[in-house]
Amino acid sequence: MDELATRTLDPHGGEDPALRPRDLSEYVGQERVVDNLRVYIRAAKARGEAMDHVLLAGPPGLGKTSLAHIISEELGVDIRPTSGPVIERGGDLAALLNGLQPREVLFIDEIHRLNRAVEEVLYPAVEDFRIDVMLGQGPGAQSVSLPLPPFTLIGATTRAGLLTRPLRDRFPIQFQMEFYSADQLAEILRRSAKRLGVELAEEGALELASRARGTPRVANRLLRRARDFAEVEGTGVIDLEMVRLALSRLGIDQAGLDPMDRKVMETIAHKFGGGPVGIDNLATAIGEERDVIEDVYEPFLIQHGFLQRTRQGRVLTQRGLEHLGVVGDGGQGVLF
Ligand SMILES: Nc1ncnc2c1ncn2[C@@H]1O[C@H](COP(=O)(O)OP(=O)(O)O)[C@@H](O)[C@H]1O
Ligand SMILES: [Mg+2]
Repeated sequence: MDELATRTLDPHGGEDPALRPRDLSEYVGQERVVDNLRVYIRAAKARGEAMDHVLLAGPPGLGKTSLAHIISEELGVDIRPTSGPVIERGGDLAALLNGLQPREVLFIDEIHRLNRAVEEVLYPAVEDFRIDVMLGQGPGAQSVSLPLPPFTLIGATTRAGLLTRPLRDRFPIQFQMEFYSADQLAEILRRSAKRLGVELAEEGALELASRARGTPRVANRLLRRARDFAEVEGTGVIDLEMVRLALSRLGIDQAGLDPMDRKVMETIAHKFGGGPVGIDNLATAIGEERDVIEDVYEPFLIQHGFLQRTRQGRVLTQRGLEHLGVVGDGGQGVLF
């Protein structure tokens, strides 16, 4: 389960800086996002202004942190990375803002986890490039406004809906990241293999790509594991056989679901009669945090038609039940 434990809501997102794309030309997929960003970046540079603030939303491992770094790289400015839970007080954020140079990027990962007091400091900063500071206390207290250099805020979040409305409204540019196709993941894997200096057979790349949950981080992690098996139990080449060996050892099935994905589905099938079940009950039954289920596991299961989110709760689809072998081909017909 160690492999899975790393697929959490890692605030820094990158266990693998070596494999991170360095500029937009290396950034595979997300065409709509990338095409629009190219325009915004060029326009901002031509005007010599800070680019508008950007919100990047999407499940973990889809390239939000990478993209934030690339944006600053393409803008030719430094990036100051931080994350929502790290900024505890308004003063912490004020200090960060105060240290920014003109047009720099402030990157706040997990921006939905900022607390209220910190958000209050952020509003005037992103809107008017100023911080409001209270001087003194009691009736004689005075609010003074300190100007900030124009800067670009990039926020990343697993779900845009987790942000408060006023915070979300302050991002003129908002992108929803999509899962990657198998072809795109294969391209990422080929490039990663090159960087790692390991030979990846084409069938190996395609097999890894089709079982990586549409997620570059997962694809790269599977690649590293397949490399281990290829080096220890094979000839060092990551071919189809080595990929299949690694995947079966990791408990990843034909659909690319890992043991935790299946645990979510099996729990709904066997403990809740296929659903509907409320997310809190499900989380308790599985022994996992609600946020992790909602942000990490559900989006892929929903996207692939294994699971549905209804008003009454989560329900397994016919496809989900068939995948578990509960109904349909070879099924036992037993839900409970
Ligand atoms: N579009 C992409 N092209 C190539 N590699 C990518 C892409 N997106 C993500 N990756 C790879 O996946 C890893 C995880 O991406 P990351 O930016 O940390 O995701 P997030 O911040 O959304 O969790 C990166 O280190 C990189 O190796
Ligand atoms: Mg990240």
